[in-house]
Amino acid sequence: MLLSSSSKLEAVIVVALVIHMMIGALSRSSDHLALLEIKSKITHDPHGALASWNDSLPFCQWRGVTCGRRNRRVTILNLQDMGLVGSLSPYLGNMSFLGNITLNNNLLHGRIPPEIGRLYRLQVLSLINNLFTGEIPVNMSSWPKLSYLNLEFNKLSGKIPNTFSSKLMINFLSFAKNDLTGGIPPSIGNLTSLETLFLSFCRLGGSIPGSLNQLKNLREIGLGENDLVGAFPSFLFNLLMLQLLNLPENQLQGSLPSNFCLSQPHLTKIELGMNHFNGFLPPSISNCSELEILDVSTNDLKGEIAIDFGRLQHLSLLYLVANYFESKDLDAMKIFHSLSNYSNLKNIDLSSNLLRGVLPNSLGNFSSKLAYLGMHSNYISGSIPSSIGNLLGLTSVSIGQNNFTCIIPDSIGKLQNLQQLYLDTNHLSGVIPTSPLLGVYLGNLSLLSSLSIVLDLSQNNLSGVLPQEIGNLKLLESLDFSMNRFTSELPSSLSRCISLQKLNLSGNFFYGSMPESYSSLKGLKYVDLSRNNFSGHIPTYLQQIPLIHLNLSYNNFEGDVPVKGVFANTSAISVVGNPRLCGGIPELHLPKCTSKTSDSKRRTRKLSIRVVVAISLSSTIADFGLAKILSLEEGSINANMSSSSVIRGTIGYAPPVSTSGDIYSYGILLLKMLTGKKPIDPMFEGGPGLHSYARSALADGFVLHIVDPMLLNEDVNEQILISLVNIGVQCSCESLQDRMDIGTVVHELFATTDSLAHAVADEVDGILFALFEE
Ligand SMILES: *[C@@H]1O[C@H](CO)[C@@H](O)[C@H](O)[C@H]1NC(C)=O
Ligand SMILES: *[C@@H]1O[C@H](CO)[C@@H](O)[C@H](O)[C@H]1NC(C)=O
Ligand SMILES: *[C@@H]1O[C@H](CO)[C@@H](O)[C@H](O)[C@H]1NC(C)=O
Ligand SMILES: *[C@@H]1O[C@H](CO)[C@@H](O)[C@H](O)[C@H]1NC(C)=O
Ligand SMILES: *[C@@H]1O[C@H](CO)[C@@H](O)[C@H](O)[C@H]1NC(C)=O
Ligand SMILES: *[C@@H]1O[C@H](CO)[C@@H](O)[C@H](O)[C@H]1NC(C)=O
Ligand SMILES: *[C@@H]1O[C@H](CO)[C@@H](O)[C@H](O)[C@H]1NC(C)=O
Ligand SMILES: *[C@@H]1O[C@H](CO)[C@@H](O)[C@H](O)[C@H]1NC(C)=O
Ligand SMILES: *[C@@H]1O[C@H](CO)[C@@H](O)[C@H](O)[C@H]1NC(C)=O
Ligand SMILES: *[C@@H]1O[C@H](CO)[C@@H](O)[C@H](O)[C@H]1NC(C)=O
Ligand SMILES: *[C@@H]1O[C@H](CO)[C@@H](O)[C@H](O)[C@H]1NC(C)=O
Ligand SMILES: *[C@@H]1O[C@H](CO)[C@@H](O)[C@H](O)[C@H]1NC(C)=O
Repeated sequence: MLLSSSSKLEAVIVVALVIHMMIGALSRSSDHLALLEIKSKITHDPHGALASWNDSLPFCQWRGVTCGRRNRRVTILNLQDMGLVGSLSPYLGNMSFLGNITLNNNLLHGRIPPEIGRLYRLQVLSLINNLFTGEIPVNMSSWPKLSYLNLEFNKLSGKIPNTFSSKLMINFLSFAKNDLTGGIPPSIGNLTSLETLFLSFCRLGGSIPGSLNQLKNLREIGLGENDLVGAFPSFLFNLLMLQLLNLPENQLQGSLPSNFCLSQPHLTKIELGMNHFNGFLPPSISNCSELEILDVSTNDLKGEIAIDFGRLQHLSLLYLVANYFESKDLDAMKIFHSLSNYSNLKNIDLSSNLLRGVLPNSLGNFSSKLAYLGMHSNYISGSIPSSIGNLLGLTSVSIGQNNFTCIIPDSIGKLQNLQQLYLDTNHLSGVIPTSPLLGVYLGNLSLLSSLSIVLDLSQNNLSGVLPQEIGNLKLLESLDFSMNRFTSELPSSLSRCISLQKLNLSGNFFYGSMPESYSSLKGLKYVDLSRNNFSGHIPTYLQQIPLIHLNLSYNNFEGDVPVKGVFANTSAISVVGNPRLCGGIPELHLPKCTSKTSDSKRRTRKLSIRVVVAISLSSTIADFGLAKILSLEEGSINANMSSSSVIRGTIGYAPPVSTSGDIYSYGILLLKMLTGKKPIDPMFEGGPGLHSYARSALADGFVLHIVDPMLLNEDVNEQILISLVNIGVQCSCESLQDRMDIGTVVHELFATTDSLAHAVADEVDGILFALFEE
């Protein structure tokens, strides 16, 4: 049968269409297959991200897959932030319509498959933050349409291929944070469309190729941490669009060009820290009117800081740390006058330079946004301006190691956002009373809810006491009052600073013992109490704290040196200059302890919590010979002890309470013995008194924090101590009718351990309360 010509044409068209459809279907099925292959290489899919990749849905509707509207071919594969583990299938290279592959933030490993080079329609390839290894895969010229290539945060190695051709249209290129070597390939200069180039953190080595001067559209260049050598790349000043210049942590040297900023009106970030640049900071930087960040820290720059900060209204971060910047006269801090008018400055650090002069009071009209003020290690003198209290945004003040004199302005107490205060190594002096100065501002600091606090007042000439308010600084991590003239006992309240890691009180006149309550400071790592007047025993709880360093040298500590924990490591501890210490591990070469308990087979010396109650049964815890002595110890009662054995071992004793009416005295006595404090202890001056002190400790559940550390040791029944404090409190009530009568006291005393009380309670006339050493 003959077909008409028109029918022939129709048939040809039909056949062509069929072929076209078949090819389309085949191609589509190759996309389908490729996706299934990609899924099959994923070994772990923690969020079930690929669960939808099954036959119940057409693949164009699978999660992360986008298809072209007409041909139903995959154009976008976006599987970012899915935590996928596995490798990347080479079948990816079959999805020939792919324009965008975004697989950021997964755990994909292995090579980037070279088959990806077949994807000539690719515009975006983004594999940020995976575990890809091997070399950067392909000849980039196979991607004529590529505009965005980001492989940062992987483990790629080898050289960056030197095959960038001028035909490429890439405008974003990042290989930052990989393990690449072999320098920056000069052919990158061919990428004239490039706006962003990040090759930081690669240790590439070599110098910055001059060809980069062709990158006329470059806005951001990041080449930090690459061990680059050579002079400052002056040709960068041909790059008129430059906004970010980031070259920190290289070995670049020579002076900074004097025309800095003259042809880069849009420079907002200059980051040149940690190189070897020398010479002066170019005054022309004043012309970068859009500058936000100027960081030239840790270089060899010198001379006066001659920038007109008044013109840099957007400056928020100024880091000139660790150079040789100097100022010649006392007025040199006048640069602060021009800074004062700022509204955007958040961080200023001029530390470790050769700056002299006096801080002007105009410091106080710095930006209220100022969070960090760093000027440590200079020669700045005069007083700290009280206007510093106006800078309410401050979180960190580091002005130690200068030549500041006079007192610490109490306006510092207004800085309620302060987390770190370093005033160490100056000539600050003056008494710091509990209040209204240090106490108040410590109290005020405690209002903050911030992460960490450093309080460093070391190496000044400050005196006074370490106030109880210190306990309000719940987040305190480091307290350094070393090398001053503080004279006080350690406040028990410090035990509430449970974040404390470092405590340095070395070189003061602190005295007394280390409170037992400090056993709560489990985070302590560095404790230096050397060169003070501490006494008493070294607390055994220190063995349980994972200390790295403990210096107790040059005090009056006495008795056994513990042997466990930090005490087992001679390089971690120092106890020299305490003539009354004994024992410890042999390497310390201390004398053997002479008491019977020094024998290593026996238990270490301890203070027994034996409570001896001598009960006088005849009105005539006055003749002792007649007193019936009972002892309570860990639940046992021994009614037949001789009085002489009690008196011999007594370390704290009190005359018997002579009449039943004097139960108040008995209560106070009991509390005194339990807390180791006298009712007239300075800590109670104008305060609540021993009774209220103990009562509130009971109410707050902090009894063990107020108990004399000597009474607390490993074998103590804490419940007995709490009961005894309770009895002391009940006996010492102000109002007569609230006080216990003596019969009840005896009953309670025995009830804390055992019975027997009934037998004697009614006959009691007086009580002797004694604690003694075993
Ligand atoms: C297949 O994908 C659909 C759509 O997401 C889903 O509802 C279904 O549970 C999946 N089936 C399997 C067996 O995972
Ligand atoms: C797709 O790619 C794989 C591996 O790269 C290859 O083995 C396969 O033949 C290709 N073609 C199709 C249609 O899947
Ligand atoms: C690319 O740059 C390199 C080195 O800068 C040069 O030798 C080469 O001719 C350039 N190639 C193309 C295709 O532009
Ligand atoms: C700022 O630039 C102008 C020219 O635009 C120049 O005359 C002036 O000296 C520059 N300022 C500084 C401090 O270099
Ligand atoms: C601060 O600003 C005021 C008012 O804008 C101006 O008069 C003064 O000169 C400025 N001071 C400095 C040091 O730039
Ligand atoms: C800056 O502070 C000084 C001294 O406190 C004050 O006299 C001056 O008026 C302040 N200047 C501005 C611009 O606030
Ligand atoms: C530090 O101040 C003291 C007096 O307060 C002075 O004698 C000394 O010269 C100053 N040192 C420096 C380096 O400014
Ligand atoms: C401490 O804070 C209180 C309440 O915010 C404030 O009134 C007081 O002035 C501050 N003390 C000091 C010394 O700044
Ligand atoms: C240290 O302070 C005391 C008073 O507390 C004072 O007598 C002494 O002169 C001060 N020493 C120095 C070096 O400032
Ligand atoms: C404590 O401070 C002194 C003097 O400031 C210092 O020499 C010592 O190293 C410090 N100790 C610790 C443990 O930091
Ligand atoms: C040290 O404490 C003892 C008592 O424990 C006291 O006699 C002595 O005066 C104190 N020394 C100093 C320098 O404070
Ligand atoms: C302990 O402190 C003393 C006196 O402050 C010091 O001489 C000694 O070096 C310190 N020991 C250690 C191990 O740091």
